Amino acid sequence: MTARIALTDAAPHQTLTLELPAEGVALTGRVRVPGDKSISHRALMLGAIASGETRIQGLLLGEDPRSTAACFQAMGVTMSSLDDEWVTVQGVGLGNLQEPADVLDAGNSGTTLRLMLGLLASHPDRYFTVTGDGSLRSRPMDRVIKPLTQMGAEIWGRQHNRLAPLAVRGQSLKPTHYHSPVASAQIKSCILLAGLMTEGKTTVTEPSLSRDHSERMLRAFGAEIEVDPDTCSVTVHGPATLTGQTVVVPGDISSAAFWLVAGAITPGSDLVVENVGINPTRTGILDALAAMEADITLENPREVTGEPVADLRVRHSRLKAANFSGDLLPRMIDEVPVLAVAALFAEGTTTITDAAELRVKECDRIAVMASQLTHLGARIEERPDGLTIYGGNPLSGAVVDSYTDHRVAMSLAIAALRTSGSLQIQRAEAAAVSYPNFVATLAQLCGQG
Ligand code: S3P
Repeated sequence: MTARIALTDAAPHQTLTLELPAEGVALTGRVRVPGDKSISHRALMLGAIASGETRIQGLLLGEDPRSTAACFQAMGVTMSSLDDEWVTVQGVGLGNLQEPADVLDAGNSGTTLRLMLGLLASHPDRYFTVTGDGSLRSRPMDRVIKPLTQMGAEIWGRQHNRLAPLAVRGQSLKPTHYHSPVASAQIKSCILLAGLMTEGKTTVTEPSLSRDHSERMLRAFGAEIEVDPDTCSVTVHGPATLTGQTVVVPGDISSAAFWLVAGAITPGSDLVVENVGINPTRTGILDALAAMEADITLENPREVTGEPVADLRVRHSRLKAANFSGDLLPRMIDEVPVLAVAALFAEGTTTITDAAELRVKECDRIAVMASQLTHLGARIEERPDGLTIYGGNPLSGAVVDSYTDHRVAMSLAIAALRTSGSLQIQRAEAAAVSYPNFVATLAQLCGQG
């Protein structure tokens, strides 16, 4: 049997059909993943508010960064086409975002909305309205509205200031020290961005360290940032001066994770994923797969514009179940859906706990991964804050749904590599949020196309 991977339009959505040989397709060769989503958002935003020109190479061309670009263009920032090899952003200078004539639309992107809110709230005398798609309008915004309000921000939202659409009247803010109840880079970055124009020291303390791309990039653009790793605290000194920079965006480890799991679970695989960001605040998935005895090696480690990068080689191996909890979770929160797929092919029972944040991502990823993998014959149970996954049950084809969540869509497609029969993923177009070429790359790796 040869592989069949086909996308069909079921307007306004797409269905991805995957029929792969029961003996499995060995994935070999080299693959490149698109630019890191988190770094792409930050490069566009800091470029927009800095003085002078920022040049960005390797920007993710997914829908999420396009939402960020569109929002800042609507506030007077000039950018070259995002499809250019080097994207240039003409920064307007700190405090100079214009009042937009219409509602800012963050689409599906929590990072766009939450980070941008810190900037909008700190632009005195400007009025902004912000919204997003159905998923984003159901995600909690009080987690950033609360600290911003503590700084003196004026923000109004639906359901007692919890949900977008939001209205913001910019203010001159006062510094704060915010103790966040969750380790979240979106919360931390929102407050740090609000602190840029705020006179004095603005500090965020987290229960454990979330991704630190904002800290690294703010420093590179000239802001004074202090990090205390012992207390997981970050301080920005305002008002800051930011100057445009050159940013080379590494490949996204969250996208690489799909190929790492694919290579680990398909017999005969030997695959190199090139140019992947391996910032230690993001490499939880490497630690998790190592604990499951996956065979992954780092090659050619290097540093590119302040971020560590390497090529990752994965070879098939027999996976063992493991238990994941605690500080590891914020370091791999976006990779849990595909880690759950890996656990289906491991010997023994895997538990993932301390992952309640998954319930407020693009969808409730705990409930959706449990229900969709169950449709395929997996034994997987929801926990309030995670999943219990029983390895070793054979999977067989069924119709499943992405719930318009990009990482769910792609995780289910990776499960298809070890599923007999025909697997159909509805609303598969969601993958384009962070990985526009995902289906084409999968087809290529499976010898089709
Ligand atoms: C992101 C932070 C994480 C992550 C999201 C991107 C960022 O969200 O899930 O995909 O770029 O700051 P939280 O900060 O809400 O955990």
